[in-house]
Amino acid sequence: MTADAQAAFASYKDEALVAIAAASSEDALETVRVEFLGKKRGRLRDLQALLGKAEADERPMLGKAFNEVRVEVQTAFEARQAALARPQVAAAAVDVTLPGPRPVIGRRHPITRTMDDFKDIVGRMGFSVATGPELEDDHHNFVALNIPPVHPARDPLDNFYLATASVGSGDQAVLMRSQTSTVQIRVMEQTAPPVRIVSLGRCYRPDTIDATHHCMFHQMEGLAVDTDITMADLKTVLKHFATAFLGDDVSVRFRPSFFPFTEPSVEVDVLWRDRWLELGGAGMVDPNVLRQVGYDPDEVTGFAFGLGIERFSMMRYQVTDIRRFFENDYRFLSQF
Ligand code: PHE
Repeated sequence: MTADAQAAFASYKDEALVAIAAASSEDALETVRVEFLGKKRGRLRDLQALLGKAEADERPMLGKAFNEVRVEVQTAFEARQAALARPQVAAAAVDVTLPGPRPVIGRRHPITRTMDDFKDIVGRMGFSVATGPELEDDHHNFVALNIPPVHPARDPLDNFYLATASVGSGDQAVLMRSQTSTVQIRVMEQTAPPVRIVSLGRCYRPDTIDATHHCMFHQMEGLAVDTDITMADLKTVLKHFATAFLGDDVSVRFRPSFFPFTEPSVEVDVLWRDRWLELGGAGMVDPNVLRQVGYDPDEVTGFAFGLGIERFSMMRYQVTDIRRFFENDYRFLSQF
């Protein structure tokens, strides 16, 4: 009797383990469960019946063997159940060498692209990139640039004044910078000549917003100071720059103008595809500005320019409304 029962346990266990391993789906496994572990009609019940028929002194030993078999089959069943529940990787169906759909990735904003291109071009002409704060004080935005206290450029209607704050030696007006010329001063204050820098960044003026004006825009400031800089150097640099960016051999024209920080001062135009387009202001650094930063105007001369970046971007990418740049419309931005 004992031997029969033990043989029955062993064959139950072997068959159950084979059936569990062979079950290839959750449904198939359920059928196996009903057959081997089911409480109502399963084969486990038949084994239990054998136990009942055993002699009293054999029962403890057989009961232990029965329990071991039951636990082993139950454990195998649970492991198989967990394995089948895991998502299957269809190994054969995935060929990682095949091209799939192109992932959507970001791209540079057209203004950023233009600024990166500008830095490349002027970098080849020996200009390094300087930066300055967008929140400026009266000294750097006006005083050091030779803009006197009563100058119309200081009009509160033309500037974003924010506060009066104690800066350096005393109280000063603080404003969002209206031009990148502020960086000329910051660089010269900290560096002895010669200098050759550009600075690209945002400027702020409370202009009425329309297709060609915005209250926030970008400029590229340029400054070169050395012992023998002339207006011819300025024109050469701007011509090379415009030609490199626009890809045509463009002409550059100077028109007489006025800026407090340059003397003489000019407006710069470029002839591109049969039209004269205004690029910005430029001139020879005013001796008063050189003196302000501790340079000796008898020793060094310099040129400076300030170009509107949006205007170049609009020409290059045929954008007709400056507002498009700052609306963050994906349909617009995804074209670049
Ligand atoms: N800062 C001037 C402007 O914003 C441009 C300029 C820069 C003119 C440098 C001369 C020299 O209009």
